[in-house]
Amino acid sequence: MTHPVLDSRRAAVVTGAASGIGLAACLRFASLGMPVCLIDLSDAALKRVQDQVAAKAPNGGKDVLCIAADVSNAAEMAAAAATVHDQFGPVGVLMNNAVTRTGGGVWADPADWHKALEVNFWGVLNGVNAFAPPMIERSEPAMIVNCGSKQGITNPPGNVAYNVTKSALKTYTEALQHELRNTDGCRVSAHLLVPGWTTTGDRAPAAGAWSADQVVDHMISALRRDDFYIVCPDNEVTPEMDRTRILWAAGDITENRPPLSRWHPDYRDAFAAFKLE
Ligand SMILES: NC(=O)c1ccc[n+]([C@@H]2O[C@H](COP(=O)([O-])OP(=O)(O)OC[C@H]3O[C@@H](n4cnc5c(N)ncnc54)[C@H](O)[C@@H]3O)[C@@H](O)[C@H]2O)c1
Repeated sequence: MTHPVLDSRRAAVVTGAASGIGLAACLRFASLGMPVCLIDLSDAALKRVQDQVAAKAPNGGKDVLCIAADVSNAAEMAAAAATVHDQFGPVGVLMNNAVTRTGGGVWADPADWHKALEVNFWGVLNGVNAFAPPMIERSEPAMIVNCGSKQGITNPPGNVAYNVTKSALKTYTEALQHELRNTDGCRVSAHLLVPGWTTTGDRAPAAGAWSADQVVDHMISALRRDDFYIVCPDNEVTPEMDRTRILWAAGDITENRPPLSRWHPDYRDAFAAFKLE
């Protein structure tokens, strides 16, 4: 069935587009006939992938725009939005995907905490603030996809700063969707993409990980159904395992367990025995 956005030939904008899931999404949007704007930090990184995306686009290079911008810089994102609008007209899809893994544990350098929040959280806010107002004003269907993480839902020990950015992003995206659906005349929807373990960048494919293409397949099918939560499994973690882990994490509050009890030795057996109702 024809989708009012994905098959609309309106532009798709993707941040963090020079690598991984962002690049796979650009290739897919171009294959669907959408003009694509790739945003990433450096011209050099964008140049390396520009031709690949153009090869999938119906009008080749004319349908591909590369903008070097830092998502954490609101002025650069506003300038990018103006350029995209001038060149491609109204935007159909905004995918806030750029990420930094800079961060660390509770006692990590505060500068690293700031960096993590500036890119992974403020970068998304800047993207939405720059691109969403004209999308809303046009009263045409359009979509905003923000890239979260299971780490922002179940909070595993390790890169706490990253987890915090992704849980903030989840809260923000849920509220954004609520706001959009309660705005008169607005036909923009927000979506939270939650990839599982995915081989990206220069890393060799891992047996347990999905490819970026698999994530994008899953995302496109879910967007065609208008799903808000788009949680991807991988080759090690099934949808049932994800549901079990998410419910267990929520149960820390409702069952008055200690936080992160999944990793607490006193709760190891209880978690292992925990089953979905
Ligand atoms: N790969 C995984 O296993 C995985 C798992 C869960 C969630 N995710 C999420 O999926 C999304 C994509 O992840 P990926 O692994 O494909 O990423 P990646 O590391 O392959 O690519 C990230 C891109 O973002 C760009 N970037 C970094 N900082 C930027 C900035 N300030 N401004 C503009 N661009 C910037 C980088 O240059 C890079 O091209 C991220 O939001 C990530 O948190 C990934």
